[in-house]
Amino acid sequence: MAAAKDTFYLTTPIYYVNDVPHIGHAYTTVAADVLARWRRLCGDTVHFLTGTDEHGENVARAAARRGMDPQDHVDDISPRFREMLSLLHVSNDDFIRTTEPRHTVRVQEFMRLLYDQDDIYLDVYRGWYCVSCEAYYTADDLAEGNLCPIHRRAVERREQENYFFRLSKYAPALLAAYQGDDSFVQPAVRRNEVRTFVQAGLEDVSVSRTSFDWGVPVPWDDAHVFYVWFDALLNYVTAAGYGADDEVFERRWPADLQLIGKDLVRFHCVYWPAMLLAAGLPLPRQVFAHGFLLVGGEKMSKTNATGIRPAELVDHFGVDCYRYYFLREISFGLDGSFSWESMESRYTTDLANDLGNLANRVLNMIASYCDGAVPDPGDRALDEGDAVEAALATDLRTAVAGMAAIDRLEFKRALEDLWVLVSGLNRYVEARAPWRLRKQGQTEQLHRCLYVCLDLLRVVAVLVSPVMPDAAQRLWSQLGVGDPLDDQRLPAAASQGLLAVGTATTRGPLLFPKLEEVGPGDLRADGS
Ligand code: MSP
Repeated sequence: MAAAKDTFYLTTPIYYVNDVPHIGHAYTTVAADVLARWRRLCGDTVHFLTGTDEHGENVARAAARRGMDPQDHVDDISPRFREMLSLLHVSNDDFIRTTEPRHTVRVQEFMRLLYDQDDIYLDVYRGWYCVSCEAYYTADDLAEGNLCPIHRRAVERREQENYFFRLSKYAPALLAAYQGDDSFVQPAVRRNEVRTFVQAGLEDVSVSRTSFDWGVPVPWDDAHVFYVWFDALLNYVTAAGYGADDEVFERRWPADLQLIGKDLVRFHCVYWPAMLLAAGLPLPRQVFAHGFLLVGGEKMSKTNATGIRPAELVDHFGVDCYRYYFLREISFGLDGSFSWESMESRYTTDLANDLGNLANRVLNMIASYCDGAVPDPGDRALDEGDAVEAALATDLRTAVAGMAAIDRLEFKRALEDLWVLVSGLNRYVEARAPWRLRKQGQTEQLHRCLYVCLDLLRVVAVLVSPVMPDAAQRLWSQLGVGDPLDDQRLPAAASQGLLAVGTATTRGPLLFPKLEEVGPGDLRADGS
């Protein structure tokens, strides 16, 4: 009996191993991780895939430059991407390398299926080739001066016998897919872009190469290897059990969300769905393309020598701030600039002052006024008849409802709404002034105020956990909640009054300690 899909399947692009990871790669990966953690918090079974794209001419050249055999080169670089994942506390469930047999064997089977049904045929290709993109361009695609539109490098005129995929045949089905389901390609600006591209007419596309051999061999013609893009795109199904385990595959496929940078739209929203249609497989439910990280106004990339390694920032700001900053600072679908100064300011204002100080103040007061134990608030829920508590209840609702923006990849919006609650709690503390209540001997009100703060800090810890899992865990431990943070599920965990009276809390260390004065100078905008 066929298994039913029961898993939220989420993917990132697989990264080229021609160089070590930079913050552009980490941007997609962290966003995907936040979504994966968020879906788990909402109770879904999640399968989160990432990995490395290891074949192709670029990788072979990078290996040659190092005087290395390509396999040795990829074996050396791929682990650097795994290190990035652990540095950034990414909770991926699988990591695929396209040189693994579980991938290469299935690529051959998939492509043979298309060849056997005459969706792949042999012909001569003539075109403009960009080695950095590993892609051919038509004359119309080229930037002024016959340059690659992405890398602004000279392209090469190439002619070779290739196998072609009958992409043109799938244009009507693709247009129907964009038309039929608005959420298939997101955001809308990207959907319009691919629709216009397909409407202009599709040409069949070359899927093999004979000029080098670092690729998956074409099983019916050993003079060819598959063009790296067709090998790479298939990782999303080979890693999900395609051809190897039907039950696993049916539980995962189609992917719920494929996250990509906007540079990969054509491959993921035209070629990829066409291949799936040809193989009779369902299309992913959504492909979402985010914007570029810019440094000095240019797309940050190794080729442009603007590459910044995640560790340079994590060393100074810590992993939580790293994860928070990019998602809070930049609207996910749009381009955005990284700057050292804006990261410093987010750390100090949002994290150290708004959240860190709040937790620290409240826990200190519990230690001094309540012997470190959660006090009895009387009624545990907020009193909507009281103006100050009613305002806080509204902030709580804003935060809980706002987090759902993560499902629309609106991370910035979700964090803004969550910070409405953090600010609301700060206002609440100022309004109630527990130090005054203490002085005036108003113990009942004092206990109520501090309970409300602790209990809503508990909710903040739960809600912020997909974005800052470490800080959330530290806060959770300080609050002394018995149930593990990982076992919390929404919406239940956001209910009021779940913190047990009498629970022992712990004060300090600070969630976000003051930053070291000196950061890596070359990352400062003014170069100082
Ligand atoms: N290997 C291909 C993808 C194959 S997927 C089947 C590839 N790799 S890449 O390493 O060059 O880039 C992969 C992804 O990294 C981009 O789509 C994007 O998600 C991310 N980014 C790389 N540079 C980036 C920025 N400067 N800004 C934001 N994301 C960037 O293309």
